[in-house]
Amino acid sequence: MDLAAFTNRYKSLLDHELYKLVEKLDAPSILKESMIYSLKAGGKRIRPLLLFATLAAFGQDPEKGLLAAAAIEMIHTYSLIHDDLPCMDDDDLRRGKPTNHKVFGEAVATLAGDALLTYSFEVMCQIPDQFTSSETKLRLVAELAKAAGTEGMVGGQVADMEAEGKILTLEELEYVHIHKTGRLLRFSVLAGAILADANQEEMDDLSAFAYHLGLAFQIQDDILDLIGDQQLIGKPVGSDTANHKNTYPALLTLEGAKDVLMQQIELAKENLIKTNLNTKLLLEITDLVAARDH
Ligand code: IPE
Ligand code: IPE
Ligand code: MG
Ligand code: MG
Ligand code: MG
Repeated sequence: MDLAAFTNRYKSLLDHELYKLVEKLDAPSILKESMIYSLKAGGKRIRPLLLFATLAAFGQDPEKGLLAAAAIEMIHTYSLIHDDLPCMDDDDLRRGKPTNHKVFGEAVATLAGDALLTYSFEVMCQIPDQFTSSETKLRLVAELAKAAGTEGMVGGQVADMEAEGKILTLEELEYVHIHKTGRLLRFSVLAGAILADANQEEMDDLSAFAYHLGLAFQIQDDILDLIGDQQLIGKPVGSDTANHKNTYPALLTLEGAKDVLMQQIELAKENLIKTNLNTKLLLEITDLVAARDH
């Protein structure tokens, strides 16, 4: 299957699963509406695709990763809802639509984020026993918490916020990007590897691959915030400049940022090629991250 067909197939399976998971909840309808609004707004689903493509690299059925992928996309979507709040980046547009708090108000938006965050762990626990052992599920839950939490995404977001208006060193900025974006993206790959019972060497190579891919992904996010097309990226251009954010283009110039992006893409590929896996789809996703316009 080529990447376009793979993307179509697993994106639609995931979309269906996400709505089904929220729809069946017994909760106030405004909360469910708000959760579904942001899930449905249509992201690229890069994290789920990485998880599915990693399973495919091991010759395993990607569907085995459906609930893990849904859990990751819920965490990611919650992080976007909170990231857009007035107390954070204060943005009005996300995934081509008004941000969650613009439609539902700040209180419901905050709680919809909280609900997606907590539900993701419940969803991870619901992976059917025929796909994996309880021990593996526990490992997935613990690794997801680590990737999304204090030592991962949330820690990175705080470092990002604290640095507003200051000038970070390149090393400090790499810390921000690797944490606020890289950790969850890396977990998406590792979750696939964990579900596929990867050995330690495979885990190490895939971890290095995803580290560089995650950094590259956020560098391109910085670049698109500067020179992207709002219609395509579905979020405001210039948000980082308005918030006095540290970004790769701000620190290194646009050309410098593009150079580091390509270096990171090469490093990602080097680590991927080291494995004996069928990495065709993962390599194609890596090229897409380098070339993406949204
Ligand atoms: C945006 O992520 C926020 C970052 C962590 C860079 P995506 O670019 O994956 O956003 P969606 O899911 O496609 O909307
Ligand atoms: C995203 O960073 C980090 C998150 C964990 C949400 P940004 O603030 O750059 O993400 P966008 O550009 O708003 O999507
Ligand atoms: Mg932000
Ligand atoms: Mg933002
Ligand atoms: Mg950004």
